[in-house]
Amino acid sequence: MTETVRAIHVGVPEDIEDGEAVVVPAERTGTGDGIAVFHCDGEFYALDDTCTHAEASLADGWIEDGEVECPMHSGRFCLSTGEALCMPATENARTHKVEIGDDGLWLHPGSST
Ligand code: FES
Repeated sequence: MTETVRAIHVGVPEDIEDGEAVVVPAERTGTGDGIAVFHCDGEFYALDDTCTHAEASLADGWIEDGEVECPMHSGRFCLSTGEALCMPATENARTHKVEIGDDGLWLHPGSST
């Protein structure tokens, strides 16, 4: 699949509470997976939503200290790099660029951070 880099307006920063995430569905991202946009400690990050270990939504995970813990088997990923930090997750998650503009949050699918 060819990945298209284009910006998607996700909303305004206030739409995503600190410690929460929203999912931009695959139909909008064009990358073959939904993308979770996370708010953690005032920063915004984006990773492919589907855990690299199995079928779980990382947006439903526990978000803290720059990491997300998968809700299914507790694998953890670094939000800024996508690095898999502990078992059973061994494959890194794909990251995407998120920008904050005057008019809100913009996601750049397929454009890594
Ligand atoms: S599905 Fe995420 S760690 Fe298993």
